Amino acid sequence: MKKILITGGAGFIGSHVIRLFVNKYPQYKIYNLDNLTYAGNLANLKDIENSPNYEFIKGDIIEGNYIMNLFEKYRFDSVIHLAAESHVDRSISNPTEFIYTNIVGTVNLLNAAKHIWKDNFEDKLFYHISTDEVYGSLGKEGFFVETTPYDPHSPYSASKASSDHLVRAYHDTFGLPIVISNCSNNYGSYQFPEKLIPLFINNIQNNEFLPVYGKGENVRDWLYVEDHAKAIDVIFHNGKNGETYNIGGHNEWKNIDLIKVVCKIMDKKLGRKEGTSEKLITFVKDRAGHDLRYAIDSSKLQKELGWKPSLQFEEGIEKTIDWYLENEEWLKNVTSGDYLKYYEQQYVKR
Ligand code: NAD
Ligand code: TYD
Repeated sequence: MKKILITGGAGFIGSHVIRLFVNKYPQYKIYNLDNLTYAGNLANLKDIENSPNYEFIKGDIIEGNYIMNLFEKYRFDSVIHLAAESHVDRSISNPTEFIYTNIVGTVNLLNAAKHIWKDNFEDKLFYHISTDEVYGSLGKEGFFVETTPYDPHSPYSASKASSDHLVRAYHDTFGLPIVISNCSNNYGSYQFPEKLIPLFINNIQNNEFLPVYGKGENVRDWLYVEDHAKAIDVIFHNGKNGETYNIGGHNEWKNIDLIKVVCKIMDKKLGRKEGTSEKLITFVKDRAGHDLRYAIDSSKLQKELGWKPSLQFEEGIEKTIDWYLENEEWLKNVTSGDYLKYYEQQYVKR
């Protein structure tokens, strides 16, 4: 049975990747290594937690010796590495944590993979999940391609850029089989409500103000999270050793326009008069170093590996809003911090 280590599987994107792999590939054993930081929530995986081909391991990628022992014990065949500190605003208030998790954590995994695979790299793969933010900020025109020079501006994107360079360095120097993908902004179910879309859905529901940074003119390219998970599946199985693939939705929105769409749908769903939620929009001080525009050209992935986004944004955002409204308990647990007790209840007292 092929043993695949997925790191950060209790987070937003990781939980979708775990669900896809556990359900689609009964012939693989999926190990989810996650330290359960504030962003990790095992309730995201309730539906598959008892599957015979799934195992959760609570552990910290910052601990080098622990990671080395873990790899020696389990002898994973492949790694899909998603664990990271992922929120730009937190990286501005506390950059150091990002350096430890995103850079040191990645190096610890690379060292352990290199150590157990020695020089026998056949059928082995270290797949590193990264972001389009490493490329920096675009003006009004153009798209990020795989060869766009790195130009990160936030401590988050700088730490991710650094980890990407290290993954490539282990390929070039030691021959480690790797692939990297850089994806645009994701949206969908199970996203921690500190990120724009779930934060605003939650605030609208509670009639709280919607803090729009600056003038709301920054542009992001939004991809439905399940389409990202499908791209990861395709790249994991068919991506070429040493290559990078950009993943994006060709779906650019100015923040303020996106927010107005969310407000409109929320008014309809909550039976409020049209225009009610928009009144909650409040322009606040801009984020420091706020990148103006991200936009991905994913034609390499589309042409070479045949992936394309399956959902139109209108459908995806409606599905997403429905999910948060139907899963009020999940949202309440997360915003109250109760989800932190879930691990204890599920895994310790059993
Ligand atoms: P997230 O913050 O929701 O989840 C991160 C997960 O990593 C959490 O479960 C957390 O507990 C775990 N983790 C953090 N530090 C750890 C440590 N030291 N040891 C073990 N586990 C640890 O993040 P996400 O939005 O799901 O992003 C996942 C990956 O995808 C990240 O690498 C991120 O850079 C990348 N990415 C995210 C987006 C996006 O829009 N969210 C877009 C492109 C790429
Ligand atoms: P975010 O979801 O934090 O993702 P990222 O910064 O990684 O792109 O933010 C998306 C955009 O929304 C970004 O331009 C910042 C903006 N934003 C706000 O205007 N207000 C908010 O409260 C948040 C969290 C984000």
